[in-house]
Amino acid sequence: MNFQNHSIRPLQKMFSEVPGRYDLMNRILTFRMDEAWRKKAARRCMEDNPSHVLDICTGTGDLACHLARYNHSGAKITALDFSEPMLAEAKKKLIRKKLTGVEFILADVGELPFQTETIDAISIGFGFRNLTFKNIKSEIYLSEIYRVLKPGGKLIIVESSQPKNKTIRKLYHLYLLIFVKFFGGYLSGNKKAYHYLSYSATHFYTPEELNSLLKDRKFKSIITNNLFFGASALTMAVK
Ligand SMILES: C[S@@+](CC[C@H](N)C(=O)[O-])C[C@H]1O[C@@H](n2cnc3c(N)ncnc32)[C@H](O)[C@@H]1O
Repeated sequence: MNFQNHSIRPLQKMFSEVPGRYDLMNRILTFRMDEAWRKKAARRCMEDNPSHVLDICTGTGDLACHLARYNHSGAKITALDFSEPMLAEAKKKLIRKKLTGVEFILADVGELPFQTETIDAISIGFGFRNLTFKNIKSEIYLSEIYRVLKPGGKLIIVESSQPKNKTIRKLYHLYLLIFVKFFGGYLSGNKKAYHYLSYSATHFYTPEELNSLLKDRKFKSIITNNLFFGASALTMAVK
């Protein structure tokens, strides 16, 4: 796959091929830390008693499950993805976990089916890289996210990042090459998807670059919490 300036179709096809082993691979590749990171993001989304929270790129719905668990204010929760197989997994998971109150929508982040300034918080778990890494629709995605957020609304991103320490960063890139690309590709049975994950995570933004990307799109009060030596990060930004 050519990762340069990819458009929507290869990504949509790629994600529609991975749901079966997607969760298992996440747990293995993050040494089970991914769920704790999503919980943190969900708590942040829910802390100001929102009335409508949107989880974009919801995938198999792990973050949406945490939103449902922390929903003490009776907020409306919408989980959105453009891959039907991913959404099907998410719906099954909510039922399996006996969680309710999440509405699922099949849609592209480039055309969010919501009125302007109607959403209190948007969460995105490990999908921001897909939207912005060498993606020709990156600008459209960011402006749609900004458009639907209420003034003062929050964008909460959990995403891979770049460790500041050079040695740790080198080790992390080695891990992405050996463990994620080769081992992940082999174990998942989907070489393309894990090649993409390894390549995009290796070349993704540093926290500083992500902050300035968000600042350029008019987001303010940007806070980054590094996770596991900066291999991932929880980033919060306000409209
Ligand atoms: C890496 S998965 C992340 C899934 C989940 N949020 C998690 O925490 O594991 C990225 C998801 O984003 C979805 N996605 C990527 N680009 C999208 C777009 N433009 N619109 C809607 N969904 C998109 C994919 O279908 C996939 O399910």
